[in-house]
Amino acid sequence: MKTENLKKEALEKLEQSKDLNDLENIEKEYLGKKGKLRELSSKMKDLTGEERKELGAQINEALNFLEEKIELEKKAFKLEELKEKEEMESLDITFPGVKAFQRGHIHPLSIVKKEIEDIFTFLGFSIIQGPEIEDEWHNFDALNFPKDHPAREMQDTFFIKQKNREELDSREKYVLRTHTSNIQTRYMESHVPPFRIVAPGRVFRYEATDASHESCFYQIEGLLVDEHISVANLKAVLERFLQEFFRNLDVKIRLRPSYFPFVEPGFEVDMSCVVCNGKGCSICQGGGWIEILGAGMVHPNVFKNCGLDPQNLTGFAFGISIDRLAMMKYKIDHIKWFHSGDLRFLKQF
Ligand code: PHE
Repeated sequence: MKTENLKKEALEKLEQSKDLNDLENIEKEYLGKKGKLRELSSKMKDLTGEERKELGAQINEALNFLEEKIELEKKAFKLEELKEKEEMESLDITFPGVKAFQRGHIHPLSIVKKEIEDIFTFLGFSIIQGPEIEDEWHNFDALNFPKDHPAREMQDTFFIKQKNREELDSREKYVLRTHTSNIQTRYMESHVPPFRIVAPGRVFRYEATDASHESCFYQIEGLLVDEHISVANLKAVLERFLQEFFRNLDVKIRLRPSYFPFVEPGFEVDMSCVVCNGKGCSICQGGGWIEILGAGMVHPNVFKNCGLDPQNLTGFAFGISIDRLAMMKYKIDHIKWFHSGDLRFLKQF
């Protein structure tokens, strides 16, 4: 019978359907307004009453039956689609990342600066900062530099270009600071003794560069002022600092007389080589000692220039090269590496 055949045909197609699209096509083909089952009913007008009734019932039964089947299939496909989507979108937080996350590195100069600050903080010093662009008064004059001192000349100092520079007062003439000693004078003129400070910072010198000299490097200045301070105190503080820094109680220092206008007496300070323990090696060039800093007892003129009475005040100051300490600590053979931005170098820290 025609209706039964159509039903069978539709069921077979349903079985072979692969997706919602297929289902819609089947729905259209059999149940649609111009679908095959509806077409059948258009032929009813040629039939007798009894026959018509029977065919009508059959068509209705087939329509309902197929409708239900298609609806069920649709639901099954939708469920499947949902499952697939869920699987694709679900987040597995234990799944390993595509690429290992790259971590940054702390620059060796920053590591060393922090270590130095920590040791001096432990010894009771405060950490102070000062300007990198400085006037000549704080960088030179107040520090007792004679007007014609060679350190002021072109080979050492970066001068800031200014109109009619020669006519200006030293407080109005600017330079890139050549040392962190400018912080001594800035601090002393605005504070009341006793003082116990360290001041790290960048300094600039117009000079030929080599393995241990750069035109920009880092220093840390120290200043301790009170009554009855002596060279013995200076020596004890520096020795203790270096022993802590190199984690080596055998570190010794020696003072050699030297000249800096702002200290009297002034010293060049050597430390025993931590690589060979003073026996002599390539790092200390066989001598067993390495020059590490400048130091001395604060000159009375500096106290005066900063508005302090030198009568009962004594103190010491020192300036350490942070770059040099870092080179010794990590056995770095050339100062250029610090500012090279070379990742092969930086990744080691
Ligand atoms: N400012 C001196 C320099 O840069 C170092 C120093 C500091 C010397 C303090 C004595 C006292 O070379």
